[in-house]
Amino acid sequence: MSLPKRTFDALVIGAGGGGLRAALQLAQADLKVAVVSKVFPTRSHTVAAQGGINAALGNITPDNWHWHMYDTVKGSDYLGDQDAIEFMCRAAAQTVYELEHYGLPFSRLDNGKIYQRPFGGQSTDFGVGQATRACAAADRTGHAMLHTLYQQNIRAKTHFFDEFYAIDLIKDEAGYVLGVVALEIETGEPLLIESRTTLIATGGAARIFRTSTNALINTGDGLGMALRAGFPLQDMEFFQFHPTGIAGVGNLISEAARGEGGYLVNSQGERFMERYAPHNKDLASRDVVSRAIISEVRAGRGCGIHADHVLLKMDHLGADKILSRLPGIRDLSRRFAHVDPIDNPIPVFPTAHYMMGGIPSNRHGQVVAPTATGPEEPVPGLYAVGECACVSVHGANRLGGNSLLDIVVFGRAAGSHMLNYLHENPYPRPIPKQAAEPALARLARWEKGGQGESIPDIRESMRRIMEDHCGVFRTGDSLRAGVEKMQQLRDRMSRAVLHDHSKIFNTARIEALELENMLETALASIVSASAREESRGAHSRVDFPARDDNNWLKHSLFFYDGQRLDYKPVRLKPLTVESFPPLARLY
Ligand code: FUM
Repeated sequence: MSLPKRTFDALVIGAGGGGLRAALQLAQADLKVAVVSKVFPTRSHTVAAQGGINAALGNITPDNWHWHMYDTVKGSDYLGDQDAIEFMCRAAAQTVYELEHYGLPFSRLDNGKIYQRPFGGQSTDFGVGQATRACAAADRTGHAMLHTLYQQNIRAKTHFFDEFYAIDLIKDEAGYVLGVVALEIETGEPLLIESRTTLIATGGAARIFRTSTNALINTGDGLGMALRAGFPLQDMEFFQFHPTGIAGVGNLISEAARGEGGYLVNSQGERFMERYAPHNKDLASRDVVSRAIISEVRAGRGCGIHADHVLLKMDHLGADKILSRLPGIRDLSRRFAHVDPIDNPIPVFPTAHYMMGGIPSNRHGQVVAPTATGPEEPVPGLYAVGECACVSVHGANRLGGNSLLDIVVFGRAAGSHMLNYLHENPYPRPIPKQAAEPALARLARWEKGGQGESIPDIRESMRRIMEDHCGVFRTGDSLRAGVEKMQQLRDRMSRAVLHDHSKIFNTARIEALELENMLETALASIVSASAREESRGAHSRVDFPARDDNNWLKHSLFFYDGQRLDYKPVRLKPLTVESFPPLARLY
């Protein structure tokens, strides 16, 4: 089949903060840049980030990037690569000022400087005091960032393919990535987008869980694409559960609520975090707080008629503070929990939030993968940044406020590296004749309706399996049973059809394609979790409760055959400073 084709110098798949920051770097250099987004760009999930972006500006309490680096390494439970963490923390202040100059409307202190608030796991003096490091635009920081970056891209003449769904990457025999086959959602027509360099920035996949803070669009599309193109996924066992999702619903109540002075209580009115994290209390790292909440509920100290959540108390903060600093979470709480936090506590429970793993990449944003004959190398022409990538700066647990930082620092770095790559590779490589066939075959499968397994049923089963078998606390038996169920689900998926016989809507086709990606992501996550026999960061094995640096201080790699895992060492050496050796992680 001959496809309509558009040609660009650089292609960015995904219009969140990472993709838009990279696109801006390229478009400002007068390159022909395309961004493909399955939603209108300003609906990308970055828009939902609330509390802030970390940078050691020291506007409120003394700070420096080295303390930020220490907190990030410790937060990662020592699984983060320290060269990448140094790179990110050093670049943070400049990156935030750059965003300020692009027009990001940060909240302000009385002296005009950028407002900052405390967040979990942040310290001064390498763990001694509480730092105030998250730069915030009220509790809508991601919203402000995404709109700023979108407007700058419009100004720089980035070309947007709005509401186009990327199906699969195009490669040649030498392994160069040459673009993507996409589907125009409105018309259902496929399009070949040719490009000398491609960046995957498709965000996370927490929609593989039943309750999640994530938008419906977070379906792991980039991860599925990477696996099908022959690249592994790294550290997929590490999924973060945000401690304060609205109970039963999952919507995010920002850590900013605790940063501004809110705290958690159990059914006895006790500030239970004092027992679990005597030093940092409610501002311990997220894995610690999530485990504490679940332990309280399991011990019978949950709140509500089902005793199945705890309460986030904020009424002591006063209406002025809540209205000026936390207006968004007040709206969310009123709408979804029917509670006004000015007067009453919010019912909260941990909910799937963030994927620490992803497509293995280096600090230039290049995708790195093992070659057929030897160790890993950069894949020519292919980049990945943001939540879909694993640099790895978050290791086994991300600190709040580091994801907005990650996307802009590595988005910028990837854009810069892509510029160099384009200078060194000035001519397009020919696209092999059959290169688009696998993507078109995937699409063709969802053209007709019929009788068979249903997409919504399979999707619901997947989410239940992930919740029941791969949640905050895990055991070997339960994980192994979950892997088996997930394999069976993959079989069911091979028999799935779209059920509307009279008419097949493009949205239903997209849901099927998304589910294929989610299933691969879920399998990667549960297989990797089943194999890792230790507890580290967000991966908490009841049967292996201790961290085991002798055997497990290493990254996992999951391959597309669905079972195979490999491991590679953590990069413990920073770029210019001393390493932080693994220590007991106390908060
Ligand atoms: O709690 C929050 O505002 C979330 C921030 C983050 O995930 O970085």
